[in-house]
Order: sequence, then structure tokens, then C-alpha cells
Amino acid sequence: MDNVNTWLVMGKDRKDTVNFEIKFNMGLSDTLKLIQRRFSGAAESVKRRNLINFPGQIPSSNNRKIDHCTLAELGRGGYGKVFKTVDMYSGDIMAVKQMDGVRELVKSRDREIYAFTSLKHPHVMNLLASYISTRTGKTELFMPIQQGALDDLMVSTRSRTEASSIGQQALVQMLSGLDYLAYRGFIHRDIKPGNVLYDTNHLGQYTFKLTDFGLTTPASAAKTHIGTGVFMAPEVYDKYGKQTPKADIWSLYITMLWVLDVDKFRSRMRTAEFDSKTAVRKVALKNAVNNSDLAYLRNMAIYDQDPRASAAQMLAGYGRRDLITSPAGSSMLPLPENHFDNWIKSNHHRDEVHGETRRRQDIHREDCREDSEEIRENTQEKASQEDSQEDS
Ligand SMILES: Nc1ncnc2c1ncn2[C@@H]1O[C@H](COP(=O)(O)OP(=O)(O)O)[C@@H](O)[C@H]1O
Ligand SMILES: [Mg+2]
Repeated sequence: MDNVNTWLVMGKDRKDTVNFEIKFNMGLSDTLKLIQRRFSGAAESVKRRNLINFPGQIPSSNNRKIDHCTLAELGRGGYGKVFKTVDMYSGDIMAVKQMDGVRELVKSRDREIYAFTSLKHPHVMNLLASYISTRTGKTELFMPIQQGALDDLMVSTRSRTEASSIGQQALVQMLSGLDYLAYRGFIHRDIKPGNVLYDTNHLGQYTFKLTDFGLTTPASAAKTHIGTGVFMAPEVYDKYGKQTPKADIWSLYITMLWVLDVDKFRSRMRTAEFDSKTAVRKVALKNAVNNSDLAYLRNMAIYDQDPRASAAQMLAGYGRRDLITSPAGSSMLPLPENHFDNWIKSNHHRDEVHGETRRRQDIHREDCREDSEEIRENTQEKASQEDSQEDS
């Protein structure tokens, strides 16, 4: 430790020099240890230890302040702006989400902090600290910095193969995060590409994390029609039935349509076309039925919440029980291969039985009646093709 020069001398020919000695807040040896640790790779856990931890759900201005200096804007959404920032004390680079304290946003802010502090999982973003800045009056949420969000990542991918490989990695990791949320009794309610963060390690492997808990709520309290339209589950959009963690599964399915850019999903989203829930649902349904690339994913695209796959069932189907937090049980069994087809069939059966009766849950089916007809034909066609194959 002694071989570090802490002296800085300015001047000419050793005459009239001005000498500075660098003093380290934490002492030289601790500072050097800190720097070494920062190189050790376990950046996130190290950051956790070095930052002052603020317990409790609601930020309080009595907490000690993190002296930080924002460097660049990373993104913004409906609830605040996110900046890259440097902790002046440790030199750590972090992300800080700054939210206004205006009354309409207080609920969302508290919801976010509550979820953030309650959740701890490798595929869920963690909160390092939070407090209300005395200088700006804004609530600041500090979190580890990631390379960006899934939307930016996909826009920069060049080929379909790359997109599908990234998509597959994001899918299982997000299912793992959602299974954990469901197990903890939370519904995220705003699953979409901008709320999935990614980071890469030195081997180029991706880690994805769910973030933005501004709408996250315990399932027991979920009532409001809330979220981002295109990605919103039918039961949330149409306000029927209870909201459950299955709403997030639907949104993840739509996220995958966006990621894989199925049927030019991304460019269509930029037009007014997808302002209509029917248009989105048609694409969702059509691809669930016809797109062989999405074969197993289609169990996430079931309108009815009960038969819609849970995250644990999806993971079990992918042979990734290691990513499941929910306790072992029937939910950990993969869904049978004909699960989706059976749902389609029983759905038609029910439509026929109820005839003209317009149950609330059936409104969207009526919206998609044309598609329904097409699917019925397709399913019959497929079945008869399979029959004839078996015959031959
Ligand atoms: N920890 C982070 N590291 C890097 N970028 C981030 C981080 N958190 C958020 N961002 C960027 O900021 C955007 C908005 O963050 P988000 O938490 O979703 O806020 P909002 O509630 O305003 O939507 C994200 O889509 C992402 O691009
Ligand atoms: Mg967001």
C-alpha cells in the first residue's frame, strides 16, 4: 500500500512548487481494497455492501443522502426519468430513477418502492437505496446500472436468428422472474420490452431483469384497468374477472411477438392500427394457431386466465425446473401437448352452447369472430391432414 504516490507537485525546477496531498475519505488502504473489489466482477453485491442501505418501504428524507452526480439520461417513461449516475463516495456507477413527488404519482412511487424492497430474485431488478432528495424534492431510486432495455437491444439486432436466440433467453428468464412474482403474490401489470433490462457478461451471455414496478401490486389489491394497451391482458383491458399473475403471462406473450417481430409487429405498433385491442388480439390468436415457431408459447396466448399457462408450467415445459420458485406441485407439470387445441375446441363448443348469450368474457371472442371461423377451419383442416397422414 505504501507504494502509492499520494503527492501531486506543481511548479518549475523544484522552486515555487505547490504541493498537494490526496487524502482518501476512507483511508488509502480501504480505498485501494474498494477499487480492487470493483474489478472483482461481483459488482452488484459489492455495490450493495458499499452503499448505505435504507430499510423500510417508504422513503424518508431523514435518511442519509447519497451524494451523486448524474452523467446521462438512460431513459424515461410515464413515471420518471432514469439517469446514469456516479456515487461520489465510492465512485460506483449506478442508475437512478427520479420521480416527481406530485400527488398523482405518489401512489405509483410507493407501489414501486414497496415491490422493489419486497422482491429479491436474479431476474428482478433490485433496489440499492431510495430517498427523497432534499435538493430537488424528487424521489430517487438507486439501482445497479444495466446495458439497456430489451427494446433497444432488439432494435440493434441484425438477423432473425439473433433475434430469436435473444428472445428465447429473455423468455425463460422473464418466466423465471414472473414465477417468482406470482409466488410472492405480485402482479407486475406492465410487462413490455421497455421494462425488461439486459446486461451482458464478458462471455457475451445475457442476463435479463424485470424492472419498473410502478404498477406492480399484490394480486389481492389489483382492480384497476392499468398498463400499456397493446400488451394488456384481455381480462385487464376488458375489466372482467379477477386480476391474477396470469395477466403478466399474456403480456409476456405479446412482448415475444414484438421481440420476434412476428407479422411486422413492431412497425404496426407504431401505427394507429394497434390502438385497437381487436387488431392485437387477432395477431395474437392467429400466430398462436398457425405459427409453428411459437408452438409452445401459444399456451400463453389463451384468452381465459384459468387455462392460460402459468410461468411455472411454461418453465416445466422447457425443462427448466431449476428456474422455478413456486413450490413443487401440479403447477410444475408441463401442459399437455394438445392443451391449446383443446382450449380452442372447448371454446367453440361453449360458443355453440351459449348461442346468442353475450357473456362478458365472450365479448372479445365476438370481436374475433372472423378469426374464430378461420381457426375452426384450420383446426379441422389440420386434424384431417393429420388423420390422412395417419391413414397413409
Ligand atoms: N437500471 C437501469 N440501467 C439502465 N437503464 C435503465 C435502468 N432502469 C431504467 N433504465 C432505462 O430507463 C427506461 C425507463 O425506466 P423505467 O423504470 O421503465 O421507468 P418508467 O416508469 O418511467 O417507464 C427503461 O426502459 C430503460 O431504458
Ligand atoms: Mg417503464
